[in-house]
Amino acid sequence: MDFLYGLIDKLEAASHLTKEEWVQLIENRDSQLSGYLFQKARKWQRRYFSNRIYARGLIEFTNYCKNDCYYCGIRRSNQDAARYRLTEDEIMECCHIGYGLGFRTFVLQGGEDGWFTQEKLEGIVRSIKASYPDCAITLSIGERTLESYQRLFQAGADRYLLRHETADTAHYGRLHPPGLSSDKRKQCLWDLKGIGFQTGTGFMVGSPGQTPSHLAEDMLFIRELEPHMVGIGPFIPHHDTPFANEPQGTVELTLFMIGLLRLMLPKLLLPATTALGTIDPNGREKGIQAGANVVMPNLSPASVRKKYELYDNKICTGDEAAECRMCLSRRIGRIGYELAVDRGDYPADAP
Ligand code: 5AD
Ligand code: FES
Repeated sequence: MDFLYGLIDKLEAASHLTKEEWVQLIENRDSQLSGYLFQKARKWQRRYFSNRIYARGLIEFTNYCKNDCYYCGIRRSNQDAARYRLTEDEIMECCHIGYGLGFRTFVLQGGEDGWFTQEKLEGIVRSIKASYPDCAITLSIGERTLESYQRLFQAGADRYLLRHETADTAHYGRLHPPGLSSDKRKQCLWDLKGIGFQTGTGFMVGSPGQTPSHLAEDMLFIRELEPHMVGIGPFIPHHDTPFANEPQGTVELTLFMIGLLRLMLPKLLLPATTALGTIDPNGREKGIQAGANVVMPNLSPASVRKKYELYDNKICTGDEAAECRMCLSRRIGRIGYELAVDRGDYPADAP
């Protein structure tokens, strides 16, 4: 299996892999190959980011959603989800607490909730920017029109996260109801990038029906898009969804994909996700050791945390922001990294 090592070397040399080569790597991986990959991934992580892990304060401001994605616990059809919206004051209070804890990026994430109109969203972005001009604002609020994205950018949003979920059209159809399409999703990502957002995409590892060929397409799409961020985490079933009885993704494959992403686009902002921390108590540390360089602890008020339940057994739902902040610095310190408190822009376009 020497050629697999050759493929990793090829990837490191910035050559493009073919779809078939991606499939080979993913299908025939073993722990020795992963070790080889992670060592190289850490080398690039160190080159661009030293031992610094960026922290983003995540504010889950609404769990209302008009969409009905089959995997997601806050899908419209889930009658048992306890719905909530944070008020603008509550959102500002989260930022206040987060700023005090050293966060210089706020991520506003929510379902696609029409209650938050374009005007309301722009107002919230403007308020945060006015109070915290030294902070970056990231939005993660789903598919919108080009014009809406443009106006949010003009209002002061710096970054946008929208996972493509899977680059394969048919597989996208297996995960989403009719009406949502991978073409639309990808177009949103091109729009975001064109506007000038630092743009994040991503996908779930081990989602129902996913094959190495689908993951290969994800890598090809990401190579083409050249996003600034890529969030990946294992699929984890949620008990009130059509995928309740599907198996969860594995830590092992998630880590392997993180390593591949670090080598393919070495300057990427790559989170060690909460989902990874949920299926393995040391998942986030392992993610960092496979090449990840971002963590996104929760700043949402403890009273609503449990309600933003995309999947079962999500960690940190009982903790205050300060506890997560301390816990993460300790965990990261133990493996020889440090939690950075600056904005943590993509290396090439730091202001
Ligand atoms: N398991 C893992 N990740 C999930 N997401 C949504 N539902 C699940 C689940 N059941 C991810 C999606 C989405 C992001 C916010 O959370 O990839 O884009
Ligand atoms: Fe939330 Fe450890 S990160 S308690």
